[in-house]
Amino acid sequence: MTNLKQQTISAHGGELINRVDESAKQKAESLKQLTVSNWAVSDLELIGIGGFSPLQGFMSEKDYTRVVEELRLADGTVWSIPITLPVTEEEAETVQVGEEVALKGEDGITYGIIEVQEKYRYDKEKEAQNVYGTTDEAHPGVKKVFEKGNVYLGGPITLVNRPSHGQFEDYYLDPAETRQLFADLGWKTVVGFQTRNPVHRAHEHIQKTALEAVDGLLLNPLVGETKSDDIPADVRMESYETILKNYYVDDRVRLVIYPAAMRYAGPREAILHATVRKNYGCTHFIVGRDHAGVGDYYGTYDAQELISQYEDELGIGIFKFEHAFYCTVCENMASAKTCPHDKENHVHLSGTKVRELLRNGERPPKEFSRPEVADVLIKGMKN
Ligand code: ADX
Repeated sequence: MTNLKQQTISAHGGELINRVDESAKQKAESLKQLTVSNWAVSDLELIGIGGFSPLQGFMSEKDYTRVVEELRLADGTVWSIPITLPVTEEEAETVQVGEEVALKGEDGITYGIIEVQEKYRYDKEKEAQNVYGTTDEAHPGVKKVFEKGNVYLGGPITLVNRPSHGQFEDYYLDPAETRQLFADLGWKTVVGFQTRNPVHRAHEHIQKTALEAVDGLLLNPLVGETKSDDIPADVRMESYETILKNYYVDDRVRLVIYPAAMRYAGPREAILHATVRKNYGCTHFIVGRDHAGVGDYYGTYDAQELISQYEDELGIGIFKFEHAFYCTVCENMASAKTCPHDKENHVHLSGTKVRELLRNGERPPKEFSRPEVADVLIKGMKN
C-alpha cells in the first residue's frame, strides 16, 4: 500500500489539525451545556476533523478582525471567512472566560467542548460589508449575520462526537481519510469540485476538462445548510450517483460530502472552498463562473480575480473556467474562449426556468442536463 508521504500537498498552515477526542464525551456531559445552531455544529465538525486547518477553534477577536479586514489570520496566514461561535448577550453572561463549555446541537446531542478564551462583541454591518460585499438583508449570508447572537465566543474546541450524516454516511470521509484514499488510488494530482447544485452539462464539462490535466476528481458537494430554494442535498446526492454511474470513469472520480453550511459569499467563499479542499488533499480546485454567488451581488469573474491574488500563498492550483454552455452550431460544450457563434445558438436556462420545468415533470434539454439526472430531479421535486 502506498503511504501518505506520497501526498505532496500540505495542509493549510502546514499541519493537518485533528481535534477529535471521543473519550472526552463523558467530561462534556458534566459541563455547562450551550445549545448552538446546526451551522455552528458543522463549523465545529470541520474544525475538529481538520477541514478548517490551521484553525484549532472558533476565532479569537484578533483573528476575526484581521480576517474581516485583510483576509488573514492574526499570524498572517490567508483566511477569507470568519469562523465564529455566536451567542446571545444572555448566553454570554452565563459563560466565564477560562471556562470549558459543552456545545450541544438542536437535536440535544453534545458534539463538542469549547475552552472559552474570549467573549467579544462585533460589528455586524462591517462583517456583512467586508465579507459579503453588501449589507442588504435580502442576501442569504447577510441575513444570517444580522440574525445571529451579538457576542462571539473564541477558543479552542474538541469534537467529542462526530455528527451523523444519515443517508450520506457512506460518502463521508474526513481530510485524513481522503488523503489516504488519494494515496491508495495512486492519484498524485487531484482536482476538487465544490457544488451546491445537481451536476449539469456545464459542470460536467469543466470537471472533465480539468480531469484531463490531473489524475483524479473529487466531487465534493456541500451538504450543510443551504437556502430553501436550492435543491435539497438528498435529491442532489441521488443525482450525483446517477451521473457518475452513467457518464464518469469509475477509477477517476470519488464522491465525498462536504458537510459545511453555504455562505453565498462569492469571492471570499471561493477562497475558503479552495483552502478546505487543500486540507482534504486536493492539489487543484475549480473556480468557474460566479462561484458561491447568489443573485446579482457578484460579477461573473469576481471570485476568480480575488483568488488569483492569493493563489501562490494558498498553494493549491486554481483551474479558472469561463462561463460554459452548449453551442448548437459547434454541437458541443464551449465558452466564449472557444466558440465564435452568436448567443442565440447557446443553450442557456436560468435556475428559475429549470426548477419550473422540473416541477412540471418536464426534462430540461439534454444539452443542459443529462436525461438520467433530470429524471432524478423530477422525482425529487414531486416529493
Ligand atoms: S456554488 O455556489 O457551489 O459555486 P454551483 O454548484 O452552481 O454553485 O457551481 C459549482 C462550480 O461550478 C463553481 O465553481 C461555479 O463557478 C462553476 N459553474 C457553475 N456553472 C457554470 C457554468 N455554466 N460555466 C462555468 N462554470 C460554472
